[in-house]
Amino acid sequence: MNTAEKEDRYEKVLQSIRAKIDGEDDLITVLSTISCELYHAFEHLNWVGVYRRVNERTLKVGPYQGTHGCLTIDMDRGVCGACVREESIIIIKDVSTVDDHIACSSDTKSEIVLPIMGKSGTVLAVLDLDSTALEAFDEMDKEYLSKVVDWIRPLYDRYSSRYIEENQ
Ligand code: SME
Repeated sequence: MNTAEKEDRYEKVLQSIRAKIDGEDDLITVLSTISCELYHAFEHLNWVGVYRRVNERTLKVGPYQGTHGCLTIDMDRGVCGACVREESIIIIKDVSTVDDHIACSSDTKSEIVLPIMGKSGTVLAVLDLDSTALEAFDEMDKEYLSKVVDWIRPLYDRYSSRYIEENQ
């Protein structure tokens, strides 16, 4: 897929997600819809979903679409853990070069993980996309997926007390 095709695909899928989640205020419903729509928009994706922070040290999987996702990730581990610790978007062009990568599927070759921050800047969850292609993610993915994260954030703020106390 060339750059123009990828951009077009993102424009269409984000439009579709926006229309579907418009007016929806249930966090799990929105996260499920986002995972599903993104997963089916790009053939190279083998996993799209969320790891939610359930306490200071622990991330739990779901909702997601794709192959098996490890159920629990310690904050000290993996690309998802690094994303929470560093509070920044991480793109891994080749997961085989990262010692700390948690291989939930041997088919995964590259990935992008974005933090979902609460009001006070606490990372409440991460959005994780895995690809069967090397170097699948770039600045364009960062840009479009950041918009998706911005749609999730207000809902997470509203529901955050169910998952983690902001000042814990
Ligand atoms: N990519 C993650 C593990 C989760 S899965 O790939 C679904 C990581 O290394 O943190």
